[in-house]
Amino acid sequence: MITAGHRLTQYAHGGGCACKIPPGELEAIVAGLIGPGSAGLLVGLDDGDDAAVVRIDGDTAVLSTADFFTPVVDDAYDFGRIAAANALSDVYAMGGRPVLAINLVGWPRDLLPTELLREVLRGGLDIATEAGCPVAGGHSIDDPEPKYGMAVTGLAHPDRLLRNDAARAGQAITLTKPLGVGVLNNRHKATGEVFEQAIASMVTLNREACAAALEAGLRAATDVTGFGLLGHLYKMARASGVTAVIDAAAVPYLDGARQALADGFVSGGTRRNLDWVRPNLESGVDEDELLLLADAQTSGGLLLAGEIATGGVVIGEFIPRRDAVIQVR
Ligand code: CO
Ligand code: CO
Repeated sequence: MITAGHRLTQYAHGGGCACKIPPGELEAIVAGLIGPGSAGLLVGLDDGDDAAVVRIDGDTAVLSTADFFTPVVDDAYDFGRIAAANALSDVYAMGGRPVLAINLVGWPRDLLPTELLREVLRGGLDIATEAGCPVAGGHSIDDPEPKYGMAVTGLAHPDRLLRNDAARAGQAITLTKPLGVGVLNNRHKATGEVFEQAIASMVTLNREACAAALEAGLRAATDVTGFGLLGHLYKMARASGVTAVIDAAAVPYLDGARQALADGFVSGGTRRNLDWVRPNLESGVDEDELLLLADAQTSGGLLLAGEIATGGVVIGEFIPRRDAVIQVR
């Protein structure tokens, strides 16, 4: 455990993707702030996709995304690995391959030793290296709260993008990582207990999930991060003009997630996610089950329209649009 006597999570007001600006609030802020664009912009801000995409020529599209957040875990090296896997994920969620990353750093120089920042950066470098993506430079500022992430550039074929507006009725809903890191991270922040299963899940790249989706000829994907499964599924179903039906019993969870919920470690971000989706939700399950489905993930898996050969669990299906954009049963 690399902490140099400091519990990194105690320097953060919120953790991981749970420190995102709430989804409804963000949509209101950016509404109408869409430039004249260009003919080459394939994916912009309109439907809240994972990365912006421009077409360079018939075979090449460039993807651009950035993600950074406050510490989700106390271990500096693990925090770096998690933040990098999470930033790289938005490229995989679009069907791309990352080709260049730069670091984004906020660090309280007066409060935390720079050796810890070095460990954060080392973690980020190790995960980017695993992804075959060079890390060169970046930007750092003195900041009252530690923050780390990356801006990542990726490449994809313009005709083989995985978009969040391309789900069709009749397709299965597939999830490639179990849920529950939000509630486990929240427990870690409160008690210091370490959940290796959550760390292992968060540092796992979505590269294989992306490859499996492309291999299966799928067209629609997003990654499950701060808005939780319900939030990201809502965005995907809304953008695609379909209704998503979830079989709650089929959704996989990390060990300890249910217990952490029962013990009261639900984050404010998770509650905001559920509040945001609720007007468009028809539910046959209890509130606890909905909170688990809305659990704010950090570096979560891919959510796919369609099935893949390995590495995914089918948790429901898309059907023609009904009154509710999401049905849980
Ligand atoms: Co994303
Ligand atoms: Co993102």
